[in-house]
Amino acid sequence: MPSRSWLLSLAISLLAIVWTAVGLDNGLALTPPMGWMTWQRFRCITDCAKYPDECISERLIKRTADLMVEKGYADAGYKYIVIDDCWLEKNRSDDGYLLEDRARFPHGMKALAHYVHSKGLLFGIYENYGNKTCAGYPGIYGHEKVDISRFADWGIDYIKVDGCYFYGNDYSKGYELLQKTLNSTGRPIVYSCSYPAYEDESSIPTDFQLLADNCNLWRNYDDIQDSWNSVTQIVDWFALKQDHIAKFAGPGHWNDPDMLLIGNYGLSYEQSKTQMALWAILAAPLLMSNDLTNIRKEYEEILLNKRIIEIDQDPLGIQGLRVYRRSSIEVWTRKISPVNIDEYSYAVAFCSRRTDGSPYEFTTTLRRIGLKFTMGYTIQDVYSGDEWDGIYLSNTNLTVRVPPTGVVFLKATVLI
Ligand code: GLA
Repeated sequence: MPSRSWLLSLAISLLAIVWTAVGLDNGLALTPPMGWMTWQRFRCITDCAKYPDECISERLIKRTADLMVEKGYADAGYKYIVIDDCWLEKNRSDDGYLLEDRARFPHGMKALAHYVHSKGLLFGIYENYGNKTCAGYPGIYGHEKVDISRFADWGIDYIKVDGCYFYGNDYSKGYELLQKTLNSTGRPIVYSCSYPAYEDESSIPTDFQLLADNCNLWRNYDDIQDSWNSVTQIVDWFALKQDHIAKFAGPGHWNDPDMLLIGNYGLSYEQSKTQMALWAILAAPLLMSNDLTNIRKEYEEILLNKRIIEIDQDPLGIQGLRVYRRSSIEVWTRKISPVNIDEYSYAVAFCSRRTDGSPYEFTTTLRRIGLKFTMGYTIQDVYSGDEWDGIYLSNTNLTVRVPPTGVVFLKATVLI
């Protein structure tokens, strides 16, 4: 029979879910969406004669769908395959429809969606609320109804709506209209909104409540690039704005720091571990953008680490915060389940910005970083799965060694 405290903690978890689920009510993205997206790795490669394995095409999508299943990504929770920009013909049809590029998608999007679905995966697409997409293909501004009903007919499950070439004066109104149009199709479609990133760029304050009411996820800031420098810039932005934005994350509505770079060219192994840990702390969508054909095993292990995915997907959906910084070690914590009455468990990431030699020895108490439960916590290393001996009280010293630009990622579970 379940113990009283277990039942209480379950009740609190359920309450938290109901309480925070005040956003877009399409019942989707109750945990941050997970999947794969073309842009970061494959950009706008359209020359299939020159780059047959990399061009944005049905061949790339089918190959990725196969690999997502074969290599265990689908089982680990990565379900959405999203085609970003550059899938269209440069012009609409004479009767005003968007056309997928006929050479690169010879069987059409409907057939491709069908293929993705047949693998047990979900299918996403990119469009832009403006006259053109960022790469110059036709946008949906002025064609919202007809385009969205076509997408629904194709069987798409996710749409990323970008904000290039928009000449109106209120992004949020247009995106709200699109949300209604999406809802009116009757098809459940995850709605990713990019406009906050454009508002941020122009110093226009974003109405985050409205955003959470309309969108399942949203891009807050600049595009990620394949470098550690880009990761740290994004992370710094999230830390700087955390008091303002973190509260708008929750089941159904998420801040999106952009794609995972892991498995590409720019991040070292330690830096890849840091990105994965921080994205889990931030309750971020886990959208890989890499070539699954030849990704190295150690990177694959990072992406498939069950304990990290579980933290990212924690049902409470509380976004984590940077809580402490000393000697270029940043401590990030995220409240997660299980909960004991009103005491949370925590994911704790010690991230180094240091570039000197040996792993840096860093000592703190749990209390110092906000873990104050008097009965204490058990601790597990999230990457290795190793459990630390004993119970950690809030005033016990805790020492970790953090590799340069790397991470030590722990889970502190409340005693129940
Ligand atoms: C913008 C977006 C990117 C990507 C490109 C495509 O830059 O922020 O994520 O979608 O457009 O052109």
